[in-house]
Amino acid sequence: MSLPAPTELSGCAEKLIRGRHATRAFRPDAVPEDTMRAIFSLAGAAPSNSNAQPWRVEVVSGTARERLADALQAAHAAHRTSVDFPYSEDMYTQVHKARRAAFGARLYGALGISPHDHQARAAYDAQSLRFYGAPHAAFLFVTGDGGPRLAADVGAYMQTLLLAMTAYGVASCPQGLLSFHADTVRTELAVSTGRLLVGISFGYADEAAPVNHITTERAPLEEVTTFHD
Ligand SMILES: Cc1cc2nc3c(=O)[nH]c(=O)nc-3n(C[C@H](O)[C@H](O)[C@H](O)COP(=O)(O)O)c2cc1C
Repeated sequence: MSLPAPTELSGCAEKLIRGRHATRAFRPDAVPEDTMRAIFSLAGAAPSNSNAQPWRVEVVSGTARERLADALQAAHAAHRTSVDFPYSEDMYTQVHKARRAAFGARLYGALGISPHDHQARAAYDAQSLRFYGAPHAAFLFVTGDGGPRLAADVGAYMQTLLLAMTAYGVASCPQGLLSFHADTVRTELAVSTGRLLVGISFGYADEAAPVNHITTERAPLEEVTTFHD
């Protein structure tokens, strides 16, 4: 096999895509507004089916962020959950489950939480509703009827947004957990339409936190890709 022919962008793409990691400890410093506007403008260049752009983004900072974090923790404490996209452990195959377990072992290992300490894991999850200390969070809503094809478009938007953040030195963590409180988010932010797919905490990484240094494996190319000719 011949060596790949790099273009002007391949080195940047390798750095950008491999340089993005889920960050779970943040410094309190806010992202400047002009940086924020540049990031979200860039994310808007994401592709979507027929360019429908079926997304709507709500960004919280400052006191709005505090209020929402309080409301999320109160909802969690009262076992008040609501999802716009149904969730079931059954959707995962054995292979998915093995990958999830390997990731969980790394994450909780870095946090010093034993894999069987369900109480400590639950406490960590509850705390994560405060956006891992990030000064901002973005909530991605799927507009329209929120069907799977529209949600897939919003998935493309999400990754474009995460990469735009990385390019501007802003760290992030997509948090599916936040979508388990769709009604709370909707009420707090006075959102009347759309379905909540995911929340993304973002800001500047606390590089000293060991949890920000875990590595995550990926399946080998051959396991997930077939080239037909
Ligand atoms: C849709 C989605 C939902 C996620 N939900 C959570 C979450 O609720 N909490 C969390 O800590 N990480 C969450 N993550 C981060 C994943 O755990 C992380 O992306 C994965 O382990 C790969 O690690 P990396 O992003 O550092 O490459 C989520 C990621 C995605 C894409």
